[in-house]
Amino acid sequence: TNGVITIDPGFKNTGSCVSEITFLEGEKGILRYRGYSIEELAEKADFLEVAYLLIFGELPTEEELEKFHADIKKNSVVDDDVKKILDAFPKAAHPMGVLSSLTSALTAFNPGSVDVSSEEAMYNAIVRIMGQFPVLVSWTMRKKQGLPLDYGDNSLGYVENVLKMMFKQPNEEYKLNPILVEALDKLLILHGDHEQNCSTSTVRVVGSSHAGLFASLSAGISALWGPLHGGANQAVLEMLEAIKEDGGDTKKYMAKAKDKNDPFRLMGFGHRVYKNFDPRAKIIKVAADEVLADLGVNDPILEIAKGLEQEALTDEYFVSRKLYPNVDFYSGIIYRAMGIPVEMFTVMFALGRLPGWIAQWREMRLRKEPIGRPRQIYIGATERAFVPVENR
Ligand code: SDX
Repeated sequence: TNGVITIDPGFKNTGSCVSEITFLEGEKGILRYRGYSIEELAEKADFLEVAYLLIFGELPTEEELEKFHADIKKNSVVDDDVKKILDAFPKAAHPMGVLSSLTSALTAFNPGSVDVSSEEAMYNAIVRIMGQFPVLVSWTMRKKQGLPLDYGDNSLGYVENVLKMMFKQPNEEYKLNPILVEALDKLLILHGDHEQNCSTSTVRVVGSSHAGLFASLSAGISALWGPLHGGANQAVLEMLEAIKEDGGDTKKYMAKAKDKNDPFRLMGFGHRVYKNFDPRAKIIKVAADEVLADLGVNDPILEIAKGLEQEALTDEYFVSRKLYPNVDFYSGIIYRAMGIPVEMFTVMFALGRLPGWIAQWREMRLRKEPIGRPRQIYIGATERAFVPVENR
């Protein structure tokens, strides 16, 4: 501090806003959306219901939910020219980069998503992105796999249609597996919102300049991509694969994670807020066991993950730093069992976080928050006169 400005790297001790959306209690591992515990919502609600709750603040009545879903379906057609943008990407493009670009491009195709001075304009932008985002998610995956782009079947539920759009094979009748529908629904609910995490703060700051909703979401997707944030779910699977290739030697990787000179981190462990178990990780770990058992899949990666967790729970380095598995530690094991490619894992995180980002952006706009513009403490050169290049 210089007595006027206090610097708080990573905003570890800075609150950026007041909010009515999500409540986190880090010490006790509590997470609630609009007052409802995620344990109850993951068990009893479906993703679209939770999306409505996060965005509008109340659990919807049957009619409200039906209207919300109907409006989303009506607005789920992505402008055909977006396919030309998609075609321009090289096959090697990372899906998060593709998704961020396409989401930003939607602004050009939906000018109404920028000026949201009325609740109606805001609602239209919200149902448009809730409808078109899953299409972009499935197109991003299918483009990489060289599969034809598909709109799925609007007679299906929201999450059912996500699976159909992603996995429908050409000239084949797609059979929905209820185990996968239930697993994806639960995963998306658990990723719904998480107060002022890195990507949500990004959505709020970009939105605070009154950039449109889609442009703000595009920025959030880029922030989520980082391996310290949502990108961790992909990094966890890559780490577990490396350990498996290395003969399952978890002790070697634990030692690397504790070695100050080794940049390696135990991906999927630790959290800025949770200094106890991430309640989402608890639920996802149980779901991973159930899904693999229901699918009859015996994935050695799950055993390696459990081994790492066991070792970390009794290791002084991890215990003293209160490092526990977070939401990203087990989620990839379920995505993999569902046949989702590892480079699509963070895209699935974005699909779950979409309603949370929308809710936080909407709250920021409705509360007329000022533009996000922090200060700094200057430590650069004092004043000096220009020197022409010939004299340097
Ligand atoms: C998500 O914020 C959110 O809510 C995010 C999220 C959401 O829903 O939006 O929950 C989703 O991003 C979950 C986190 C996914 N990221 C990872 O799994 C990557 C691995 N984890 C770390 O990079 C780290 O734990 C963070 C980024 C999650 C938290 O970073 P912090 O709060 O800045 O903590 P830190 O880096 O200062 O670490 C504190 C200490 C350090 O040791 P010392 O310098 O004190 O000796 O713990 C150590 C760190 O070196 N440490 C780890 C570690 N995480 C922290 N050491 C080894 N392995 C790790 N994973």
